[in-house]
This record gives sequence, structure tokens and C-alpha cells, in this order.
Amino acid sequence: MANILVTGGAGFIGSHTCAALLEKGHDIVVVDNFSNSKPEALKRIKTITGKDFKFYELDILDFDALDKVFKENKIDAVIHFAGLKAVGESVQKPLEYYHNNITGTLMLIKAMRENGCKKIVFSSSATVYGVDNPVPYVETMPTHTATNPYGYTKVMIEQILTDVSVSDSEWSVALLRYFNPIGAHKSGLLGEDPNGIPNNLFPYIAQVASGKREFLGVYGNDYDTPDGTGVRDYIHVMDLADGHLCAVDYVLAHTGVEAVNLGTGKGSSVFDVLHAFEKACGKELPYKILPRRAGDIAWCYANTDKAKELFNWQAKYDLDEMAADGWNFTKKNPNGL
Ligand SMILES: NC(=O)c1ccc[n+]([C@@H]2O[C@H](COP(=O)([O-])OP(=O)(O)OC[C@H]3O[C@@H](n4cnc5c(N)ncnc54)[C@H](O)[C@@H]3O)[C@@H](O)[C@H]2O)c1
Repeated sequence: MANILVTGGAGFIGSHTCAALLEKGHDIVVVDNFSNSKPEALKRIKTITGKDFKFYELDILDFDALDKVFKENKIDAVIHFAGLKAVGESVQKPLEYYHNNITGTLMLIKAMRENGCKKIVFSSSATVYGVDNPVPYVETMPTHTATNPYGYTKVMIEQILTDVSVSDSEWSVALLRYFNPIGAHKSGLLGEDPNGIPNNLFPYIAQVASGKREFLGVYGNDYDTPDGTGVRDYIHVMDLADGHLCAVDYVLAHTGVEAVNLGTGKGSSVFDVLHAFEKACGKELPYKILPRRAGDIAWCYANTDKAKELFNWQAKYDLDEMAADGWNFTKKNPNGL
């Protein structure tokens, strides 16, 4: 078992992954600045697992603070979730996004190198496939165009980590390209708790179901898809957490760089997700058709062969279970975490 540093461990995907790491018997050290999360998530990880861990409230832009974490702990590998992730906001605040995500990653890699830790699992995204590649997305496709600054931070960080790995063969890098993580921990203690108006479909639907929002805005019903709404590859956040356990094992045992899709390989439309949530909460949810949003594409889903081959990993949960677990979290936490 290893000692894993988790950046952004109080966030949505990070918190579920921390719980999974502890349950598997790993030790973890968590860092977060709570810019998009709450300390309560950390308490709940401890409640779920019955295990304690070290936490440092710090900004990954602060090299000295990161360096201290490596000096005070023997870290075997890093899972790097910390970053800003709102696509629309990144268009309004490109400098903040480039600085936080890219400079933050540079500080982290520098602290790792100086302390002899050269194994990293990075949270990348399906957004690196841009708009020109055909679905399903395969890891070998070209990835150098994105549609917004957030997407470009992922493209650039993938490049930086690849260059670092080329420069020094001791590095081991897994670039995990997530598709659309939704759902929540089975306990209902952890889930997605966005600040303000949700940017993503699933937490938005959850807020319509709990009466916080009047209706769901569906951006376009005239796409070339079975029901006209956009199709995405939704993946249960616990499946995603499980994918990180495999990626950690992989980077601990190998060197080099690998990009790996983490999705189900199956596309679901906006209406599919809405209907699954209606089934879970037992009522009809109001929606309105709105114009298409700039930058949205019709289809996005993964080819999942590489994750199967390299990690022996496959998503287990279907859309109904994602919706049921998401609703369970919403019901139990009407005011979030
Ligand atoms: N949720 C998705 O749909 C999705 C899809 C693809 C990729 N990703 C990526 O996965 C990662 C985790 O996403 P999430 O959904 O859990 O987001 P999140 O916002 O819930 O978690 C990110 C965490 O990082 C922390 N953080 C941000 N900047 C920091 C800094 N400078 N120093 C310290 N902590 C900082 C935030 O406080 C938060 O707790 C992100 O890098 C995101 O871009 C997410």
C-alpha cells in the first residue's frame, strides 16, 4: 500500500477518490484551498471510512507550502485534481484559469521533482478532443485544439507532463481523460455540491428536483442525435474513483506517459438523464428548450478499450443508478455539504 498525495481532495471527484483510496488501504495526504469545496467533505470521508488522514489547507500556487508537504511526508505518488473547472467562467477569466491550473501544476511538478516523487495521475478531460474528432474518442486522436481556456489548460498540462516524462525516464504519468462524472457516494454523505448556479446538467437537474430551481434549460433540441439533445458519456463518480485506484497501481509499477479515457463508452442524451432523474425522484421535472450554447457539440463519448487493456477497469454503474445515488445525496443534503 502506498502514501498518496491528493490535490483538490475536498472537491467532488477528489473526495470520492479519497474515500476509495482509504477503503483500499492506502494512506493519503490531502491538500486543498477550498476555493470550490468545503471542509465538511473531509469530515465525511473520515465518517465513511473510519480512517484519519493528514490535511494541509494550501494553495498549489504556493511552492514553499507544497515543498513542506513533501518534506514532512514520504509521498509515493500524486493524484492531481486541484484546478478551476467552469468552462463559461474560463472564457470570462482566462488569466485566472491559466494561472491557477497551469502555474499550479508547474509548482506541483517542481515540488515533486525536488523531492524525488515522479509518479502522477492527472485529471484531464474529454474536452481535449476538441470539436473535430469523430466519436467515439480514442486516445490516439489529435488533441491540440480546445474550445475554451479551461479546455486549453488541460491540453497544455497534458503536453507539459508529457515533456517532463520525455526529459526524465523515471517519471510515470497517467493522463486520465474523464467524460461526464455524475452520481454520488452510496452513503449519501458525499456528492457534487457546486457553489452558485450549477454549470453542469446533473447538479442542475438535482436542484430542479429539490425545488431550488424552477426548470431545467435544455440548450438545443435540434442536434443530429436521436432526440435532438446533446449526447454525453455519463460515468458514476464511484466508477471514476475506482479508475483512479487502477491508475495509481499502474503509475507505481510503470514509467512513461499514458493517456486513458475514463467513460462508459455509452452516450446518453439530456432527456435520457432528465428521465432517469425523474424515475429516481418519482416526479416529472419541468424543462424549457433554449437556444444552443456556443461551443457545445452534439456527441461526446469514449472508446474505453485502453482502460480495459491497461488497467483492467470498466465502468459498472448505469444511468438509473447514477440518478438514484445523485437523488439520495440531494435528499439527504438539501443545503449541500
Ligand atoms: N467534474 C467534471 O465534470 C470534470 C470533467 C473532466 C475533468 N475534471 C477535472 O477533474 C478535477 C476535479 O474536478 P471536480 O469536479 O472534483 O472539481 P471540484 O471543483 O469539485 O474540485 C477541485 C478542487 O480543487 C481545489 N482547488 C482549486 N484550485 C486550487 C488551488 N490553486 N490550490 C488548492 N486547491 C485548489 C478546489 O477547492 C476543489 O476542492 C479538476 O481538475 C477538473 O478540471 C472534472
